[in-house]
Amino acid sequence: MIKVLSVFGTRPEAIKMCPLVLELEKHSQIKSLVCLTGQHREMLDQVIDIFGVKPDYDLNIMRPKQTLTTITTSVLEKMEGVLDECKPDLVLVHGDTSTSFVVALAAFYKQIPVGHVEAGLRTYDKYSPFPEEMNRCLTGRIAELHFAPTENNKKNLEMEKITNNIFVTGNTVIDAFKTTVKENYQFHNEELKKINFEGKKCVLVTAHRRENLGVPLENICHAIKKIAQQYIDAIIIYPVHLNPLVRETVFSILDNVDNIKLIDPIDVEDMHNIMSRSFLVMTDSGGLQEEAPSCGVPVLVLRTETERPEAVEAGTVKVVGVKEEDIFYNAQLLFENEDKYNEMTKSTNPYGDGHASERIADKIIGWRKSRERAD
Ligand code: UD1
Ligand code: UDP
Repeated sequence: MIKVLSVFGTRPEAIKMCPLVLELEKHSQIKSLVCLTGQHREMLDQVIDIFGVKPDYDLNIMRPKQTLTTITTSVLEKMEGVLDECKPDLVLVHGDTSTSFVVALAAFYKQIPVGHVEAGLRTYDKYSPFPEEMNRCLTGRIAELHFAPTENNKKNLEMEKITNNIFVTGNTVIDAFKTTVKENYQFHNEELKKINFEGKKCVLVTAHRRENLGVPLENICHAIKKIAQQYIDAIIIYPVHLNPLVRETVFSILDNVDNIKLIDPIDVEDMHNIMSRSFLVMTDSGGLQEEAPSCGVPVLVLRTETERPEAVEAGTVKVVGVKEEDIFYNAQLLFENEDKYNEMTKSTNPYGDGHASERIADKIIGWRKSRERAD
């Protein structure tokens, strides 16, 4: 049996790791354990409750307005005890958060192999996204197994002379998406239940990135307000991240506009179902750039770059930057020019077929067998 410890701590990691954890549990050759760092709390618990994943360890590190340093030091210190007690054969981390990098580092200090899920995404700008770009580069250096969502991600790793054990698996977010989106879905969230979407164009907005805090997020909010005022048949749904720095800006600019609904973070089933019924998604999130294309909903990316060029190339996602006039102009184009809108609505799925978790589990078992043969 191979003992696999999956460690994650934020909402997006949980959404993308829970389908994998559920898959690992199906295999008799794998003993699957889960450790939460608790870098997020409410937003993390919301996800594991929906998937029914029960953690074996919880470092519970989240503090209000935490800094990169406090996340790093508390996860590093607390992971040592977990690794000593659990003694995993393999630690799985996901993506690019501080949890991912620090857990990989903690495992490296114990010489425990690391598997990196969602490996090989790059912008090649170490300050954007910050600190995520560096987190994933460093995690990639440490990792022994690299589960790359796309061929393009694999090529990025190869350019860095990482050549062993790269497996193109698709992204597990598509595995999650396939289980959550349903016809005739009834929302759980009380605010969503009250909204009459009849005859409305639903615009789903999320924005939270560290490099957008301050002026860029203010610009984003002013553009959203202008869209709401110009297009009264639009209903803008903005589930606001719990980061107090995000909430202060968003509520100060967008509160009390009739057709803008500022709501608390919604659970992943509500999120995926509202997304699949939306006219447009406007976001700085990574995950939404992967999810919306699979249901044919155009995405305007509220950033200056993306590490996910595949859907941009396919034409369903457009990077519009963080200036008020650029954001407004691009949204206006989609509201007023049907041809431009239709060009962006073709459903495309460069990020996977919903079977990434199965491939990752198979590769882990294969890797274990090849190590046994070598010993
Ligand atoms: C983190 C990740 C980012 C990821 C994002 C997903 C890092 C450095 N950043 O950024 O890559 O895109 O998660 O959302 O790893 N808070 C709560 N409750 C929660 C979650 C957050 O109150 O459930 C508040 C806390 O005050 C916390 C703050 O939000 O201090 C910021 O959380 P943090 O994890 O540091 O940063 P994120 O911006 O969420
Ligand atoms: N999400 C959610 N509820 C929300 C907002 C987002 O379930 O209120 C989901 C979204 O569908 C995606 C993930 O959270 O799967 C993205 O997380 P986030 O934007 O926090 O992080 P990022 O993707 O930018 O790292």
